[in-house]
Amino acid sequence: MSIRLLPPTLVNQIAAGEVVERPASAVKELVENSLDAGATRIEVVLVEGGQALISVTDDGSGMGPDELALAVERHATSKLPDDDLVHVGHLGFRGEALPSIGSVARLTLTSRARGAAEGWSLSVEGGAKGHPVPAAISAGTRVEVRDLFYATPARLKFLKAARTELSHAIDTLERLAMAHPAVGFFLSDGSRALVKLAAEKADDLAKARLSRLAAIIGRDFHDNAVPIDIERDGVRLTGWAGLPTYSRGSSGHQYLFVNGRPVRDRLVVGAVRGAYQDVMSHDRHPVVALFLELSPDAVDVNVHPAKAEVRFREAGAVRGLIVSGLRHALAGAGHRAATVSHGGVGWRPGGGGHPASFAQAVRAQAPLGTGLAESLPGLELPPSAPAAEYCPQPPEQAYPLGAARAQLHDTYIVAETADGLVIIDQHAAHERLVLERLRAGLTEGGVKRQMLLLPDVVELGEAAAARVAEAAPVLAELGLVVESFGPGAVVVREIPALLGACDVQALVADLACDLAEWGEALKLKERMVDICATIACHGSVRAGRRLSVPEMNALLRQMEQTPLSGQCNHGRPTHVALGLADIEKLFGRR
Ligand SMILES: Nc1ncnc2c1ncn2[C@@H]1O[C@H](COP(=O)(O)OP(=O)(O)OP(=O)(O)O)[C@@H](O)[C@H]1O
Ligand SMILES: [Mg+2]
Repeated sequence: MSIRLLPPTLVNQIAAGEVVERPASAVKELVENSLDAGATRIEVVLVEGGQALISVTDDGSGMGPDELALAVERHATSKLPDDDLVHVGHLGFRGEALPSIGSVARLTLTSRARGAAEGWSLSVEGGAKGHPVPAAISAGTRVEVRDLFYATPARLKFLKAARTELSHAIDTLERLAMAHPAVGFFLSDGSRALVKLAAEKADDLAKARLSRLAAIIGRDFHDNAVPIDIERDGVRLTGWAGLPTYSRGSSGHQYLFVNGRPVRDRLVVGAVRGAYQDVMSHDRHPVVALFLELSPDAVDVNVHPAKAEVRFREAGAVRGLIVSGLRHALAGAGHRAATVSHGGVGWRPGGGGHPASFAQAVRAQAPLGTGLAESLPGLELPPSAPAAEYCPQPPEQAYPLGAARAQLHDTYIVAETADGLVIIDQHAAHERLVLERLRAGLTEGGVKRQMLLLPDVVELGEAAAARVAEAAPVLAELGLVVESFGPGAVVVREIPALLGACDVQALVADLACDLAEWGEALKLKERMVDICATIACHGSVRAGRRLSVPEMNALLRQMEQTPLSGQCNHGRPTHVALGLADIEKLFGRR
């Protein structure tokens, strides 16, 4: 066997395998080139999901005939003037995209350099490069890619249905559009306009970004996201975190950017999951748009052929910044809940009103308030708690969740606020409070316990009992004191003081299930929050329990003081608010 150098066309096709995986990747490369060329308007056309034709037209700097000829050569780039791979100021720098595309498709570039008298065109077919010829184009550049992968039939087989490829391409374009709000982006399938994003005119970048995000994610993103802006050790994180109640069923709505480049970095994705883990159930995903800015030498963008992943020099610090930035922003949102929740748990008007218009009707409120409290487990009422069964005076401005007026179906509290009403899910709300108190107890050096008058023996079966006994030291920190009690049973001697009277049998049985699910190898300490959540669920007032007015008010005041009380431990809203003006609208008074 002799060693030989591969012919350039084959080299380009191999590179194309990494750079151009599907139509969306070609769209990404071409649109990035347009952005690098300073375009302010970019138009994309995809026919048959991009397989028949991808065309990208921009109003950027354009190219003369010599540049056209160079552009399709491998490793020809105008973007690394000083051989410095660290301080990359453009989206491209490898000089690989156009030759790769030209090796697997029929590629035509038509361009007119700024100020030039005429335009030029150049074609490459399956790697064979033609000569520049004069062509009609008023300004900028148009790149057309026909019959993608015709030269590599094996690739062609991997393409999905045109509809699927189209939606990938749209997603790619939208992510680039989020990072460049001042540029207009348009996409059609040849007959219908599918993306129409006019350039955002706002002079303030944050404002322009937010309206671009809202144009893509949905207008209700405005009302359901909290801003983030923190900086630590030269790393800046800005963007918006969706409220936990504004969650989605997939992680497709997490938009992450590093130095203006859309990425799907595992570290960033993991950090986002970590930040939301205790306010959202495992099958829900937050909507976030996060922009990380850091010095180019603190991040390597050259580790992935399509530049979709990056490597951080201080990965731990970046992760920490994202987690604390998100947590901080969410905690600042206090007890805000989503204006309209996605996934069917939202409160909709009985008359079948349109959810989008109802988005304005159900509004979130600002956090504020002082304590009160009583006999609900986990809530303290001062001995002199007002026995106000009926509260005729207007609710105080200082209490955003207002004065409790009624309990409906032994499940929902209705409160009158200064400018509307609030409906609270008593179990969801109380569960959140108990969880936060357990956690506070943990960080303050142990949760207070109460001794059971009669120790409670719980029969579990051998494996389960052994698991619970093994977890005893961790459970003790949470105020739950258990010991092994012969084969197949444990005895509970103490429980967290804030639980009041709770069903110890059911609690321990549930914990045993959790432990089995998590498996042996697991470090229980890392599951502290999950254990807290199970305990909180059992220690919380159930739907179906009748509450007194002081109990209800105590719950409201505690919610106002508790971080993240806008959603329960599973990410469902704990309450919804309806403003007076919106009620008037519902009745046609406005
Ligand atoms: N739309 C465009 N407008 C103006 N010049 C362009 C355009 N598209 C490509 N070019 C020129 O062609 C060159 C080659 O483009 P290509 O995408 O192959 O490489 P690159 O962008 O430099 O690097 P990468 O392979 O990382 O994308 C660019 O460096 C640029 O000078
Ligand atoms: Mg490029």
